[in-house]
Amino acid sequence: MAKVVKKIKAKSKAKPKATAKAKQKPRAKITPPVMCGDRTIVSKDARMIPIYIMGSEYEVPESLTIMKAVEYAGLAYIRGCGCRGGICGACATFYRISGSYKLKAGLACQTVVEPGMVIMQIPFFPSNRPSYELDDIKGDPHEELRRIYPEVFKCVGCGTCTRTCPMDIDVMDYIALMKRGDLKGAAEKSFDCVLCGLCASRCPAQISQFTAAMFVRRINGASLTPKAKHLERRVTDVKSGKYEKMIKKLYKMKTDDVKKLYVEREREPDMAEPGTWLPEDKEHL
Ligand code: SF4
Ligand code: SF4
Ligand code: FES
Repeated sequence: MAKVVKKIKAKSKAKPKATAKAKQKPRAKITPPVMCGDRTIVSKDARMIPIYIMGSEYEVPESLTIMKAVEYAGLAYIRGCGCRGGICGACATFYRISGSYKLKAGLACQTVVEPGMVIMQIPFFPSNRPSYELDDIKGDPHEELRRIYPEVFKCVGCGTCTRTCPMDIDVMDYIALMKRGDLKGAAEKSFDCVLCGLCASRCPAQISQFTAAMFVRRINGASLTPKAKHLERRVTDVKSGKYEKMIKKLYKMKTDDVKKLYVEREREPDMAEPGTWLPEDKEHL
């Protein structure tokens, strides 16, 4: 955490309260609205609740995510923060609620603070990332998985990974699909993975599930999924220079004209049968 955040004392809205004496003091008055992080405005009526960051107590509005609460407390992320929208997986965080033995996990940008939350963000998880060249993988994909990620086959089926995943992915199930050789199924089941690494951090068999799943999705894309003929044709067209003239013309246009062209372009209807729709203007097909 020390490397994840740094203190900005001047901007701090909440003061650390580390002593028992301080805990007995009446709660601070409701803080006026502030702009923080991604510009969310804290509600005037938000109740102030105690949370613990790196062992110090802070009072923060109850409606904030962990990420915004950390910033509200006067700390700034120097890593472990990316999209702020639950996509990049950079903000994996563990927490306990004081008084409970249960260790919980979530994404700091998506998890709302609770009273008594003891927070620890993991800036990086050292997962197993074996080196391989996809182009060199010619054999049976299942055997290649066994060669590159042998630990996958040591899964004991405890389900901890599934319970930890903030994306509600059934991680144990995609590992089971990998073991059975259903790599396509595993690729599809793991598709929403944001690579936060939380599953790997808890696995008793020391499997880096998410990097193995990335390998499987790559294999699926490279050799298990049939090539799209129309895409191949379009790639050939692009390589042949067919669109160079059109691109040069676009470069010369004024920005507003390009925007107009984009907004007024012919669009495929939402409910069109796949592969049946063609624009009226076929000049660039
Ligand atoms: S599968 Fe693992 S790495 Fe992917 S989102 Fe879930 S916990 Fe994170
Ligand atoms: S945490 Fe590890 S051992 Fe347990 S089910 Fe998940 S992959 Fe298997
Ligand atoms: S910052 Fe990207 S998922 Fe949280």
